[in-house]
Amino acid sequence: MGQSLYIETYGCQMNVNDSELVASILTDAGYTLCQSAQDADIVLLNTCAIRDNAETRILGRLAHFRDLRATQTPHLTIGVLGCMASRLKGELLSPRVGANLVVGPDSYRELPRLLARAQNAVAIRLSDRETYQGIAPLRYATNGVSAFVSIMRGCDNHCTFCVVPFTRGTERSRDPLSILQEVEVLRDTGYREVTLLGQNVDSYRWSMGAEGDLPFAGLLERVARQAPGMRIRFSTSYPNDLTEAVLHTMAQYGNICPHIHLPVQSGSDRMLRAMRRKYTRAEYLQQVARIRAIIPTVAITTDIIAGFCGEQKVDHQATLSLMREVGYDAAFMFKYSDRPGTYAHNRLPDDVPEEVKTQRLAEIIELQNELSLQSNMHDVGREFEVLVEGDSKRSAEDACGRTGQNKMVVFKKQQSEPGQYAHVRIVSCTSQTLLGELV
Ligand code: 5AD
Ligand code: SF4
Repeated sequence: MGQSLYIETYGCQMNVNDSELVASILTDAGYTLCQSAQDADIVLLNTCAIRDNAETRILGRLAHFRDLRATQTPHLTIGVLGCMASRLKGELLSPRVGANLVVGPDSYRELPRLLARAQNAVAIRLSDRETYQGIAPLRYATNGVSAFVSIMRGCDNHCTFCVVPFTRGTERSRDPLSILQEVEVLRDTGYREVTLLGQNVDSYRWSMGAEGDLPFAGLLERVARQAPGMRIRFSTSYPNDLTEAVLHTMAQYGNICPHIHLPVQSGSDRMLRAMRRKYTRAEYLQQVARIRAIIPTVAITTDIIAGFCGEQKVDHQATLSLMREVGYDAAFMFKYSDRPGTYAHNRLPDDVPEEVKTQRLAEIIELQNELSLQSNMHDVGREFEVLVEGDSKRSAEDACGRTGQNKMVVFKKQQSEPGQYAHVRIVSCTSQTLLGELV
């Protein structure tokens, strides 16, 4: 039997999918996946660099493995993959951190060769081509119901706060035939939901020769037709790149979920300009109105950053008022974290004091809890098709699953099995969860 391998994944859904690619590449090369780091000859951390606190946590975990190697398992190989590999490069090999391998998001095909060589190494060159064509992700940590399919890699947007274009490189789309083939395999192995992934799915584009270019709307339609029994989701949309064609496709196909994640970042035009987002507050609100006119049942969620460079009280108030105006169903909310290498780091002073960031974030979270509760209360008394994912966290008598709008529902499970659709009436809710009963 080959050496055993343990992979730990941090950060976004793209990283979850990348870990599945890595698992596929390495099991093909003879390595065996194991469930716990204790049993492993090789530990790979697939890392995130988006905010400083993500990195700090991962460095703590690396220190743990380094100590483990020093005291108990001298043969242990420690590898850092993903965005921190891209960002910190050879620094991660220093005795202080103690990694043996540093491999960036476009270099995973090199892993078997690097591991076989058993020398410390760094492979972080970014590519404008690599889409891991021909590698079938190994779904090793799945619920068997829902899977990610990446449709593009990298990002060309260059928002001034964001490290992603530096860590994941330039934007490139994946061949639609291989995407459709992957969806077909998922469908045939019993998966019921697929999420198409990209940093900015609206810039998906593939040249189909004489037929012209296939944009994201066209891809979405093909996927929806390919797997009529599966739910289709996608993430992430860039507010003013999201086309009307995508919205009409969503409205037309019942299996495309009525949910759009539409990161706004800030409600202040001055901040949006400093962030180099390509829309104004008014344009964003127009887009929201257009989405709701075409897909009345839609849920809209967002990302918000508190305390970006130069943010004043009025800017923060504008974010709060925009949140109210949109009435988001849910949001991911963050304190601005200065990232070395970005435009904001080089040119804009990180001048909002930490306590002010903390205070503003708290206000944003409190407001979102209110809005989420309102959104959930609106669903009480209504009925939804819920795709069952498994037992609820609290009780094995309850099942949990999601509505098309991506809201979590908990209900007495009776006969419901993961992967089935349950018809559920919502009877009550919290700001985080809907509580229902089978009808
Ligand atoms: N600080 C805080 N949040 C950030 N994000 C991206 N970069 C930063 C940063 N430097 C957030 C954005 C993005 C989400 C994935 O992470 O809101 O949409
Ligand atoms: Fe970062 Fe902007 Fe790309 Fe999103 S779209 S990953 S926020 S640069």
